[in-house]
Amino acid sequence: MPVSIECSRVSTLSRFEVIARHDISIHIQIFMLMCGIVGYIGNREVAPLLLQGLKRLEYRGYDSAGIALLNGSLSVWKQKGCVSLLEEAFSGSAAIIKDVTIGIGHTRWATHGDPSDRNAHPHVNAEGDIALIHNGIIENHAVLRLELEKQGYSFVSETDSEVLVHLIDHLWTQIPLIDFESAVREALTLVEGTYGICVLSQREPDKLIVARQGSPLVIGVGVDEYFIASDAAPLVEYTRRVIYLHDGEMAVMRQSGFRVSTIDNIEQDAVVSELDFKLEEIEKGGFDHFMLKEIFEQPVVMRDVMRGRIRLADKTVHLGGINDHLEELRSAHRMVILACGTSWHAGLIGKYLIEEFARIPVQVDYASEFRYRNPVVGPGDVVMVISQSGETADTLAAMRMAKKRGAKVMGLCNVVGSTIARETDFGLYTHAGPEIGVASTKAFTAQVVALIMLSIALGKNRTMSDPEIAGLLDELVQVPEKAARILQRNEEILRIAERYKDASNFFYLGRGLSFPVALEGALKLKEISYIHAEGYPAAEMKHGPIALIDKELPVIFIAAQESSYKKVLSNIEEVRCRKGRVIAIATEGDREISRLAEQVIYIPHVSPPLLPLLTVIPLQLLAYHIANLRGHNVDRPRNLAKSVTVE
Ligand code: AGP
Ligand code: GLU
Repeated sequence: MPVSIECSRVSTLSRFEVIARHDISIHIQIFMLMCGIVGYIGNREVAPLLLQGLKRLEYRGYDSAGIALLNGSLSVWKQKGCVSLLEEAFSGSAAIIKDVTIGIGHTRWATHGDPSDRNAHPHVNAEGDIALIHNGIIENHAVLRLELEKQGYSFVSETDSEVLVHLIDHLWTQIPLIDFESAVREALTLVEGTYGICVLSQREPDKLIVARQGSPLVIGVGVDEYFIASDAAPLVEYTRRVIYLHDGEMAVMRQSGFRVSTIDNIEQDAVVSELDFKLEEIEKGGFDHFMLKEIFEQPVVMRDVMRGRIRLADKTVHLGGINDHLEELRSAHRMVILACGTSWHAGLIGKYLIEEFARIPVQVDYASEFRYRNPVVGPGDVVMVISQSGETADTLAAMRMAKKRGAKVMGLCNVVGSTIARETDFGLYTHAGPEIGVASTKAFTAQVVALIMLSIALGKNRTMSDPEIAGLLDELVQVPEKAARILQRNEEILRIAERYKDASNFFYLGRGLSFPVALEGALKLKEISYIHAEGYPAAEMKHGPIALIDKELPVIFIAAQESSYKKVLSNIEEVRCRKGRVIAIATEGDREISRLAEQVIYIPHVSPPLLPLLTVIPLQLLAYHIANLRGHNVDRPRNLAKSVTVE
């Protein structure tokens, strides 16, 4: 039975911000963030093929799924939850829909509107004769929605994607003699943002139309049949002949053939390539593990967090989700940051930055400690909870407690529609894309980018001058390119990992903003390699841990050029004269350090507030390689869960 797509409940997410993000196109076409698209036109029974295809895309993480089949008329099944639930819902109709050979399917990872039945894709127009699935973000969706509402269109979802289907419908109805393909084309010229779309319509039922701008689409070429997918994983069991659609291109597929053109209708030669990846390799974007893939995604993720939020023209930061709360934040007695694990480390960085730039006192607490004592918190305080998953039990409970005591609660989450995102008063999304590796990497750097922007927004008109903000923003937008340069040192870091992989203990030391990075480096190593590792403020070493130093102990110093650099050099000397084995993360061009350290991993120069975005990357890679060399399952470390939903 086709599902009802009526509004079921009003989301609280409108208070939470959404931003644009775009495609990753480093080296490997299939390497990407967004969720899943499948489509088919040919002679096979389409429903099982689509459901199977969606299962192949499950590895990417998603929150809802749906399919649309074209059988004279359009039928849509979609719902929150996993593909097997959708399969169950569909199974009653399987017999009736048996001979259908054209359809589309989607797994959604929400960016606009919470994960729910009505926000799931496909979206259909009011007549129910056009169905569309979309990956990506339509940046000008609000303006388009308003225009379409003026024309009498009503929306059933909160998604940015739904504007596309109404826009196509509108243009198809309004422009005389226009056909399906031209209506899609016209609609896309009005759209800003990123998309991979797949559309079908019962008005021209022999066609499947796809288009791409910043969100990958692959066409699998069979004999009298075409497969569409957002990466090759669903295609490999049917065909190895594929066409990668490029940005700005669209394709119209009929059973009898296809045509690729630009959105402006310039015909393109479609290059058919032979796929020689294994399924597993496709899922991991050509990397051995999700963790490594996610480490390599960081330059793109950093750009995506900033996208639409930094205006270089007037050197300002615009954080939609907190715009209406800036004064409230600035006038807070203090901020309390609550989080666990890696997110707590990001919180510590947030403290340093907010205190430095906005002069608001910030306290950082482990959510699990805060919730079990009787904390002093209440009206006048702003509590910021940081959580990748938005579901961590301790963070959630601490947030509820703070809220109950009268504090304003702000969220910094990655997963749209997560419990924390829903229950906070306002907040920001990091939009790092689904993070699959248990060890958090790209979610951390995304949190840090968001915290940098937040502290600048709070510091404006307080302690930060406009030229200071301008200088920092100019530098911030260059950080992704610098991060990519560090990733090129992967082999070099592997060699260092080979050298130290058998150590039983590691020390990570840093001062200032490098102290939370030291903690994060140590956490990464212990959680995946099972080697005991400790992060410490470098100056604290002499108050006890120095007793541990001997010729067996690798000590990693985060020794980039910043105000305490000379003091860190003295700490390195202290370790050296006790025969500790020093590995340093240092700034390119630093010759002095190579005299003191056994190994140096260089990072490009960057202003001190931005350092954690770069210094953490070699530490993630080092932990990854050591764990891998020791033969551990890097993506699924023992005893750990991706989301800790128990106390
Ligand atoms: C980090 O690698 C861990 N997976 C863990 O410390 C994690 O950061 C922590 O459980 C908090 O998760 P959250 O950000 O989803 O709340
Ligand atoms: N922006 C769309 C939504 O929130 C698509 C998200 C995706 O790429 O899955 O529905």
